[in-house]
Amino acid sequence: MSSTNDRHMTRTNAGLSRPSATPPRAVPTLTVQAEVAHDAAVPRLPTTVVSSWKGGVWKTAISASIAERLAFAGLDVLYLVTDDQLDARRRLGISESDPDVARVQRGPGSITVVGLAGAHAVDVLYRSGPGRFGRFDAVVVDTPPVKKGGCLPGVLLIAPTDGDDASANLIRMLRATPANTEIVLVRIDAVPKREWAQDAAVIHDASNQAGPLAYLSDPLPRTDEVREALNRGQSVWTLARRGATREFLQGLESLAGVVWARIRPDTALPPLGANAAAAVHIRGWDDDA
Ligand SMILES: Nc1ncnc2c1ncn2[C@@H]1O[C@H](COP(=O)(O)OP(=O)(O)O)[C@@H](O)[C@H]1O
Ligand SMILES: [Mg+2]
Repeated sequence: MSSTNDRHMTRTNAGLSRPSATPPRAVPTLTVQAEVAHDAAVPRLPTTVVSSWKGGVWKTAISASIAERLAFAGLDVLYLVTDDQLDARRRLGISESDPDVARVQRGPGSITVVGLAGAHAVDVLYRSGPGRFGRFDAVVVDTPPVKKGGCLPGVLLIAPTDGDDASANLIRMLRATPANTEIVLVRIDAVPKREWAQDAAVIHDASNQAGPLAYLSDPLPRTDEVREALNRGQSVWTLARRGATREFLQGLESLAGVVWARIRPDTALPPLGANAAAAVHIRGWDDDA
């Protein structure tokens, strides 16, 4: 019996057995280089990362306050949150019902809060740039407590620590920090200045950091006023500048000064305008007079 199928098979077989048929040629696999980590990469905008491999060391408090200080100085800041955004948004008085990309004014400048993790954050920082979120003068990055928070190249890395455990993790984090990243260590909570200077030297030696490393000379003090302001979404820069709160603000002012020098190297950080200082200072009555 000869069906259409049989006839087809015969034809095909005849074709395959043709002695002149050229054998199939294998196309060789070409190698594509894996994307290499660029230890020498530089972000598209001046970038400050606040990171430490520990939670509760005031990373969000410091990063939000620096973003605010830069805005008060007239800059438009992209505040890139690679952690859960809620804390950062609350600090800046942004409510849950506000848009995902929220913008707040601080004096003549602004802060735009964007939550992006991992490769998306890297894309905005090093490849596509932040254009789709607006035009910015600088980026401040708030990170979760992960080791890789210290891995970004070409940035200013502000690394807070609150003691030995945190410092042990910090050392491991800094070992992976590229040499073209500038590091500033920050000690939070009260310890004597000299003890902190020694700790900073130990952290530096143990981390084998090839790149530049500095430390904020005075530890940032704990204050109820600062904690309460942060919790109600009030800018710390509007607090009365006295006692431990003043010391805290002086520390942040110094950090903001280092950040500013990378963004506008030719000018000094403009002093806070009256709009930032809501509180009245009474000389002779406030305790720093
Ligand atoms: N100077 C300060 N004095 C007192 N409490 C503070 C101070 N700075 C931050 N805090 C509080 O410490 C807690 C942890 O701060 P946070 O910035 O969320 O840390 P992280 O982002 O590292 O987890 C928050 O409740 C915050 O309000
Ligand atoms: Mg945080």
